[in-house]
Amino acid sequence: MQKVWRWAAVVGLVLGVAACGRAGVGDKAILDPADGEWLTYGRTYDEQRFSPLRQIDAASVGKLGLAWYADFDTDRGQEATPLVRDGVLYTTTAWSKVYAFDAKTGKPLWKYDPNVPGEKGFNACCDVVNRGVAIWKGKVYVGTIDGRLIALDGTTGKVAWEVQTTDRERPYTITGAPRVIRGKVLIGNGGAEYGVRGYVSAYDAATGKLAWRFYTTPNAAGAADGAASDKVFREKAAATWSDGVWKESGGGGTVWDAITYDAVNDLVLIGVGNGNPWNHKLRSGGKGDNLFLSSIVALKPQTGEYVWHYQTTPGESWDYTATQHIMLADLKIAGRERRVVMQAPKNGFFYVLDAGTGQLISAGKYVPLDWATHVDPKTGRPVEAPFARYTNGGLSTQMTSALGGHNWQPMAFSPKTGLVYIPAQLNRGAYADPDSFTYTPGAWNTGVIRAAQGPHARPRFKPGGSDATGELIAWDPVTQTKRWSVAFPHQASSGVLATDGGLVFHSSQNHLVAYDAATGKALWRYDEGARAIAPPSTYVIDGEQYVAQMIGTGGAGGRDAPRTMGRLLVFKLGGTAKAPAYPATVVPPPLNLKLATASKGDADRGGALYANYCAMCHQAGGYHPNLARSPAILDPDGFRAIVQDGALKDRGMASFRRFFGPADTEDLRAFFLWQAAHPPVEPERAVAAHAQ
Ligand code: HEC
Repeated sequence: MQKVWRWAAVVGLVLGVAACGRAGVGDKAILDPADGEWLTYGRTYDEQRFSPLRQIDAASVGKLGLAWYADFDTDRGQEATPLVRDGVLYTTTAWSKVYAFDAKTGKPLWKYDPNVPGEKGFNACCDVVNRGVAIWKGKVYVGTIDGRLIALDGTTGKVAWEVQTTDRERPYTITGAPRVIRGKVLIGNGGAEYGVRGYVSAYDAATGKLAWRFYTTPNAAGAADGAASDKVFREKAAATWSDGVWKESGGGGTVWDAITYDAVNDLVLIGVGNGNPWNHKLRSGGKGDNLFLSSIVALKPQTGEYVWHYQTTPGESWDYTATQHIMLADLKIAGRERRVVMQAPKNGFFYVLDAGTGQLISAGKYVPLDWATHVDPKTGRPVEAPFARYTNGGLSTQMTSALGGHNWQPMAFSPKTGLVYIPAQLNRGAYADPDSFTYTPGAWNTGVIRAAQGPHARPRFKPGGSDATGELIAWDPVTQTKRWSVAFPHQASSGVLATDGGLVFHSSQNHLVAYDAATGKALWRYDEGARAIAPPSTYVIDGEQYVAQMIGTGGAGGRDAPRTMGRLLVFKLGGTAKAPAYPATVVPPPLNLKLATASKGDADRGGALYANYCAMCHQAGGYHPNLARSPAILDPDGFRAIVQDGALKDRGMASFRRFFGPADTEDLRAFFLWQAAHPPVEPERAVAAHAQ
C-alpha cells in the first residue's frame, strides 16, 4: 500500500517535466516505458535490464536469426547498449561516435563523429570505449573520450549544445553513458590511474548549463569548491584523509560508470572508483577510510546534496572500484518487502543495501575471494585477510584482481526468477609496495608493483589476465547463494539481458547464448564470429521482437581475443540475414631476432619504464600489440619515431617525449628485445590476419 502511494507521489512529481507527448522521452516515460522500448542505459531507471517482452521465449528462441547488421570503422572495444525509441536505434562506438539506424531495417539515418583527437586515447586506461547515449525529449546525449558532453538533435544528429565537462589539461576521459534525471543530464568521468579528482556533474538537459557538481575526494587546499559536495566534506569526509600523494594527484575516485536514479526515494546513486595512487600508504599515509573512494553515494537529483553513502572497500588499495552496475529492485527479505540497491563491485562481494538509507542488508561472496573473510554485518566493513594489505611491506597475490570479480559489464535481474545474472570473472591479482615512488603528472600512477619486470625482477606471479576465467552466475540476492552458473575459459564476457520470455542473453567465447533463466540450460547459441563484451538490448517494431548487440572486444581485460572491426548484430525470429565472416586470425610468429640492431639500452631499466608507462596498454589485460612480438622493436629509428615523435598518435599511441628521452627509449627497446629472447613472457594470442 505504502509503495503504491509513494509511486503516485513520484509520478505526480515528475509530470510537470514529463508533459512532452510521444515525441519526447521524459522522466515518466523512462519510469514506465512501453514494453517494446529501451529508453535509457539499463532500460528503466531501476537498471534491471529486464524486458517485459516474451515473443522470443523458450519455445520460439530456436528460430532466432539475424535480421540485420551494421559494420563500423573502428577495431577498438565496443561497449554500448543500443537504445530504441520511436523506431530508431541509437548506439555508439569506440571513439565516442554516435549512430542512428532504422531499428527495423537497419537503414543508417545519421551518424555523428565528435572528432576526438587520437592522442587523447593516451588518457584512456582501458581503451577508447563508450557505453552509449541517453535520449530525452528529442535530444540524444553522448560523453566523449576528451571529456565533452554533447547534445544532438535526435532526428538529424546535428549538435544542439556542447560543454567541456573536464579540465582538458588533465587526463580525464569519459567512457560512461549519460543519464537524464529530472531534467538534468548527469555525467561522470574516468582517469583515476593517471591522477585526477573524481566528480559527477549535472547539466540542464535543454541548455547545457551546469546545475551542480559533486566531488568524490576532498579539495587538496582544504578550500570550498562552491560545489554540492562542500558540506559533506567539511562535516565528515575530509577527516577520513591524511597527508599523502592525493594532494598532488587529486585522489582518484572517478564516477566512470554507474549512475542510477531511485525514483521512489528520489535519489541519484553514483558508483565511485578507486584511489590515486591505488596504494593507500602512498595516497594517504596508510590512514583513514578515504571517503568517497569505492563507495555508493546517494545524492538529491535537484541539488546534488549528499544523503547517504556505503563504502565497500575502506582504505582502498587494490583498485577495488564501486563503479560497477548499481541496480534497484523490490525484494522480499525476511518476510518484508524491501526496496534495495544491489551491486557486485570488483572486490567480489555482492551487496544488498536498503535503498532509502544505504544500510547493509547482506553481503555474500559471488566469486571465490580471499582478500577478506567476510563483511561484518554490524559495521558493514570487510574483514581483511592479514596478507591483503601489502602496504605493510608484504606481497599479496589475492582474489580478486584489479580487473575485479565483476567489471563494467552490466548484470541483469529478472523479477520473475528473483535472480541477478552476473557476468563474473575469476582472477587473482598481485600487489607489492614499490621501493620508491614519484608522482608523475599524466603518467600511470598506481604506486603498486603488479607484474614481473625486466631480466632481474623479483620472480613472482603470472601476468594479470592469463589464467583468469569467466562465469555467468545466476545469483539469489535474498539468500546470497548461487542458483546456477556457466563457466568459460576467459574473463571479459558480455553484459547481460533478461526477458519475460524466461530467457537470459549473454555472450562468451564468440557466441551469443540464450539461457533458460530458471535453470541455466542453453536453449540457443549463435556464432557471432568475434568476442562481444557489450550487453544486448531488446525492443519491438511492428509486433516483432528484436535483440541487438554490439560486437568487438577491447576495454579492460579484453585483450585475450583478436581485435575485429566493430559490428552491430540485430536478431529476430525467422531472421535470415548473413553478416560477412571476419578475416581469419593468425598467431604472429616469433620475431627473427637476427634482424635486430643491437640495443645499447639497459633491459632492466627499460622494464621499470615499461611498468610505469606501457604495461597498461601493451600487456595482458591491456589490448594493444605485444611489443615483444612487434617488428617495431627491431628497428631503433622506427621505434624512436613511434615512442618519441608520436608517429602513431592518431591511433592513440601518443609521444612519450614529455616523460623521457631517446636513451630511455633505447632502454625500453632493450627490454622488449630481452623479452622476445626469453619467451613466453605471456602466451601469444591470435590477431586478425590483416593486422600483420
Ligand atoms: C594508452 C595506451 C598506450 C600506452 C600507455 C602505450 N601505447 Fe603503444 N600503442 C598504443 C596504440 C593505440 C597503438 C597502436 C595500435 C594499433 O593501431 O593497432 C600502439 C602501438 C605501439 C607500437 C607499434 C607496435 C606495432 O606493432 O605496430 C609501439 C612500438 C608502441 N606502441 C610502444 C609503446 C611504448 C614503448 C609504450 C610505453 C612507453 C607504449 N607504447 C605505451 C597505445 C598505447
